[in-house]
Amino acid sequence: MPIRSRDLTDPDWWRSAVVYQVYPRSFADGDGDGIGDLAGLIDRVPYLARLGIDAVWLSPFYPSALADGGYDVDDYRDVDPRIGDLTQFAELVAALHRERIRLVVDIVPNHSGSGHRWFEAALAAGPGSPERARYIFRDGLGEHGELPPSDWVSHFGGSAWTRVPDPSSAAGRGGQWYLHLFAPEQPDFDWSNQEVRDEFLDILRFWADRGVDGFRVDVAHGLAKDLSEPLASYPRIHRDVLKDDGTDVLFDRDEVHEIFRGWRTVLNEYEPPRAAVAEAWAAPARLPLYARPDELGQTFEFDLVLEPWDAAGFRRSIETSLARAQAAGASSTWVLSNHDLVRHATRFGLPADVDLPAWLMTHGADPVEDRALGLARARAAALLLLALPGSAYLYQGEELGLPEVADLPFDALEDPIWERNGHTEKGRDGARVPLPWTADGSSFGFGSGGSHLPQPGWFREFAVSVEDAEPDSTLNLYRAALAARAELLVGDGVTFGDAPDGVIEVQREGGWRSITTFGVPAPLPEGEILVSSAAVGDDRVLPPDATAWLRISA
Ligand code: GLC
Repeated sequence: MPIRSRDLTDPDWWRSAVVYQVYPRSFADGDGDGIGDLAGLIDRVPYLARLGIDAVWLSPFYPSALADGGYDVDDYRDVDPRIGDLTQFAELVAALHRERIRLVVDIVPNHSGSGHRWFEAALAAGPGSPERARYIFRDGLGEHGELPPSDWVSHFGGSAWTRVPDPSSAAGRGGQWYLHLFAPEQPDFDWSNQEVRDEFLDILRFWADRGVDGFRVDVAHGLAKDLSEPLASYPRIHRDVLKDDGTDVLFDRDEVHEIFRGWRTVLNEYEPPRAAVAEAWAAPARLPLYARPDELGQTFEFDLVLEPWDAAGFRRSIETSLARAQAAGASSTWVLSNHDLVRHATRFGLPADVDLPAWLMTHGADPVEDRALGLARARAAALLLLALPGSAYLYQGEELGLPEVADLPFDALEDPIWERNGHTEKGRDGARVPLPWTADGSSFGFGSGGSHLPQPGWFREFAVSVEDAEPDSTLNLYRAALAARAELLVGDGVTFGDAPDGVIEVQREGGWRSITTFGVPAPLPEGEILVSSAAVGDDRVLPPDATAWLRISA
């Protein structure tokens, strides 16, 4: 086992970190209530250390009504009692730091939960009050204000406005509307309000004071909005309609950067400075703005999650991401999966043109995924990305090669997408099913009290205990890759070798290479094979859909 020696005082740790996303309610359940928690996570810190990651990104663990899996935060300075408390949070920080693993927490600044004390105060206070000014309340259109103030739509379907009762009317009718770009239980803050700005600086300090090493910033591109009257029309949210000059009505406006420069000042008050990564869905050319050194430092590169399994497309996308990060003085971030996406072991096992939401509605029956192919490609893709300069974000379960649970029954779904779209889209729960830790037992070792989303019987094959015992399992491949990477990865330099069609050859400083095959076999050059996602025979031919890392002697 490699000795983890990473220095917790290194200010640049995030530039090349392997960050493992924990979706806490589905990771490990310590108290047997069917919901994952901090006790379960603390218990699995040895597993994470053995895996060889550098940091954990913890998705929201705050008190929440769970209208959107915890991204509806009711109190930004506490832990959901179903998940733990602040004492356990401190234990988690200590347990991770003992293993030289850092902790990044999710911060959700675009909206609170509707149970937040500020939103409750806003509802009670009525129109024109300072309480309402922290959110975005407007009078409705139409003779009696019965129509929403604009045509804006929610990401989850339906109008982005919900009407509230008027507190001064005895009948409780005729009130204003508030904006929620996500679920109605997620009212958007008004970021032109100084009180909102100050509050979040204070929240950053609250967690940084508790030893948190970094922040993942939810919907970073959404905070600034054009609220000038009359509200502009914006009937559709899609990348294609997003303006790329900083003047879009709802997203990626120039003013958002002033907010993040303020955040960076606070993050730099700490030693080492706290890291941050933006979740920003912006025009590609504008992504580097979020990653500037005086802003967040990193922004997720999502291009690859849209890329089918094809060498030319992968290479183009990788080179573009590298160039973008370089332009910002940032480091790239590689992502294949997260809690919002269909797991990549499944994506890569489906025809490239499959409409994923429609496919999920068939419960994964039409077409049937090719699991073996998907897994081979997923293993190859992971090794390819881990060979690149920059940081890699892994999503819990991908180290097991876990596929999407495409056949979740409709009545088990938790994602607001399901209800908000009139039962025409299943949403993201298939990637959020609690992890299998053991082949048997209640909820495959997730906990002693079942699992908040049903686990299929085939989860058994992917259980940690099963993969632990198989030398060639995906779990052992990730362990080997992370151990090798910790030794090999040097510098930011990378060149792409002159490889045949269907092959990507990554050349790194220090004489090591990563070779990936997309549907074709490739003979490997001379050199020691350090890690390989598929068996290589005496003929030294790397099979199709595989990656091998080699040390090339000078
Ligand atoms: C981000 C999160 C997603 C959430 C949304 C609203 O995109 O990743 O899970 O639903 O923000 O907070």
